[in-house]
Amino acid sequence: MFQTTRHTPYECGCGTLCRSLSKCGWSKFSAGTVGRFAAWVTLTAVLTAGSGSKFAQGGEPHRARADQTAPDPAAVERGCAALTLRGYLKPTWKDDAITKVRKLWENASPDPVADPKGYAAAFRARYGLHLPPYPNDGLPMGLRRGVLRDGTKTGIQLDCLLCHGGSLGGVSYVGLGNTQLDMTLLLRELTNSEGRQMPPSLFILNSARGTNNAGMVSVVLLSLLNSDFSRRVFPLPMGANLPELDVPPWWNLAKKRSMYYDGRTDARSVRSIMQFFMGEKSLDEMKRLEPIFQDVQTYLKSLKPPKYPFPIDRERAEHGRTVFEKTCARCHGTYGEHASYPNKIIPLDVIGTDPARATGLSRKFVEHYNSTWFGEDFPADLEMTGYQAPPLDGIWASAPYLHNGSAPTLWTVLKSKERPKLFLRPPSTEFEHYDRTNVGWKFEPLAEEAVSALTPARRRGLYDASRFGLGNQGHTFGDKLSDDDRREVIEYLKTL
Ligand code: HEC
Ligand code: HEC
Repeated sequence: MFQTTRHTPYECGCGTLCRSLSKCGWSKFSAGTVGRFAAWVTLTAVLTAGSGSKFAQGGEPHRARADQTAPDPAAVERGCAALTLRGYLKPTWKDDAITKVRKLWENASPDPVADPKGYAAAFRARYGLHLPPYPNDGLPMGLRRGVLRDGTKTGIQLDCLLCHGGSLGGVSYVGLGNTQLDMTLLLRELTNSEGRQMPPSLFILNSARGTNNAGMVSVVLLSLLNSDFSRRVFPLPMGANLPELDVPPWWNLAKKRSMYYDGRTDARSVRSIMQFFMGEKSLDEMKRLEPIFQDVQTYLKSLKPPKYPFPIDRERAEHGRTVFEKTCARCHGTYGEHASYPNKIIPLDVIGTDPARATGLSRKFVEHYNSTWFGEDFPADLEMTGYQAPPLDGIWASAPYLHNGSAPTLWTVLKSKERPKLFLRPPSTEFEHYDRTNVGWKFEPLAEEAVSALTPARRRGLYDASRFGLGNQGHTFGDKLSDDDRREVIEYLKTL
């Protein structure tokens, strides 16, 4: 079995290791190597069936983080440990899938026995995974040991941090969206390495690295449950068709009254963030897990974004603030001492960004969701409005931008004509690929003809804005700014 290097002590750590909870998840990872959904059967079902949604509520007034009561530190600590140190699902793959998979790689890999560190790094790079900032049995963030009913740890499965754990400049963060993940490749190759085949999928899990179709996974899992959570043999047709998405950072959750990109779910809903488990868990098990995930939610709401690590021109940033407050604050709020966040959901015809995520969620799905335990306490909003204008805290760190990741830099968010149609995502999250001028990821625009010459690995980093849900239109609010004002706004955004 593939083992690892030892973890050094954690700056964060959770549970008993945790010294400085506010840092939980922000420390430099230490070592480690290299998951899967609920029961394989269910994901299988997910990938083969079709349909989907996200839920919400909304409407009430919104408080900025500054006015919020501080989360209970004991709950934060429990939540941190529950999220990062515990597994909940049975294994999907055997332990050795992690090393067996290398026989499927195009190029020779370091030998896992002779060079475990080298192999672990190659594994992470291939699938877009990161070192965990917490002890994880030598596995990368997002993979985890499976847990049997009697508590025995065995095999491999996935967890929340597959998508919600990222890295930046060599530091791993819990709650930063994983902008490198190639989920399709990971699932397919781990499965093939055991001589099994993935069932044909009825939807695209991801076409580009870094985006993923978590929404459709939920839709399919839910289509296999009746309102009372009894299992269905045939999926309920739900008519939802959701696209792949960029993963939002968790550190904004505390400010939000409503969540998910369409803002249709009340951000207090604990059950909605447990959808990942519905393929394996019974209703009774979900109920037992709810208090644990209440703590997880408290932990998520305690997370803070990292600070911009490079110099900032304070004078230009101050000018930028004035422009921002005139042009942007009505939707994105204000920051600093008297921070406010309006929690607005902007109608599709005003925001103009790719509509597929908002329109792809069918009423049927929302109704079905609301008829189950998930929607009992906080039913999702039956009305679709558009997209929620997110808080911009730590925005420098969460590139690419917009719900589908179609704008690689802040400059392209604010000058819509300069968004690339076809481009390569960076090969890693090291700062050498970070663009400090335009703020975000450097990208290589490509001509159609150049695509066929790409190596398979680079091809998987190709973002094609003409694909379903990946359109790069809309959010034209920065277009009218002069280049100089735009630079100053970007300078200001670095301070958030
Ligand atoms: C397969 C990738 C994936 C996994 C696994 C995953 N998520 Fe997510 N998560 C997403 C994506 C994508 C979104 C955005 C969905 C949308 O708005 O349509 C999201 C949204 C969220 C949000 C809302 C954030 C906001 O500000 O609106 C929370 C909270 C969340 N996830 C928690 C969790 C938890 C807890 C788990 C594990 C139990 C989990 N997620 C597992 C991909 C994932
Ligand atoms: C009318 C409301 C509105 C105005 C005005 C507005 N925005 Fe936005 N903004 C939004 C919405 C809604 C989104 C999410 C769109 C999506 O993801 O499809 C967004 C997204 C963004 C994002 C990407 C966020 C992320 O996490 O990916 C940035 C950055 C941003 N806006 C900056 C600005 C700046 C700077 C201004 C002023 C020049 C501005 N916005 C003006 C509504 C607005």
